[in-house]
Amino acid sequence: MYRVAVITLSDTASKGERIDESGKVIAEIAENNGFEAVFTTILPDDEDALTQLLCKLCDEDRADLILTTGGTGFSKRDHTPEATLKAIERNANGISEAMRYRSLQITPRGMLSRGVSGIRKEALIVNLPGSPKAVRECLEYIIDPLRHGLDILKGTAHNCAET
Ligand code: MTE
Repeated sequence: MYRVAVITLSDTASKGERIDESGKVIAEIAENNGFEAVFTTILPDDEDALTQLLCKLCDEDRADLILTTGGTGFSKRDHTPEATLKAIERNANGISEAMRYRSLQITPRGMLSRGVSGIRKEALIVNLPGSPKAVRECLEYIIDPLRHGLDILKGTAHNCAET
């Protein structure tokens, strides 16, 4: 069972000024799809703090999949993609392209999420948008292929070209 870490990026939720529904939705969808939610936290929209946490979770092998929510838009406080790009070693942006493809079938505003995806060591990091609705729409679309990607990353499945 793959371990999932959930990181919510929100200045207001980190100060307790609103409830973090999006993190709960991620954990619920992950658990319903056979993943184990092992870590959840809420960070303010701080680029360096997020990069450090992503690196720590990957380098200490604390999770197989790290899902972030929030901070992917155009606000001056939205730094999640920049923080993630500093942490990843390999790009996996097909996942983010797939989410934007799915989102655009629902709302033209799907183009406004700048989220990225990538690999550091043996962990996959994926940026989800911030609202619970957007999280559900995106995560339910990608979660099955994510498991196959993790199987390949961990060496328990072959590259599709080899089968
Ligand atoms: N994607 C889906 N599937 N559904 C949505 O409602 N909202 C968009 C976009 N992606 C949305 C979506 C909007 S309005 C914004 S501003 C961006 O995600 C960025 O969201 P964030 O800054 O909360 O990460």
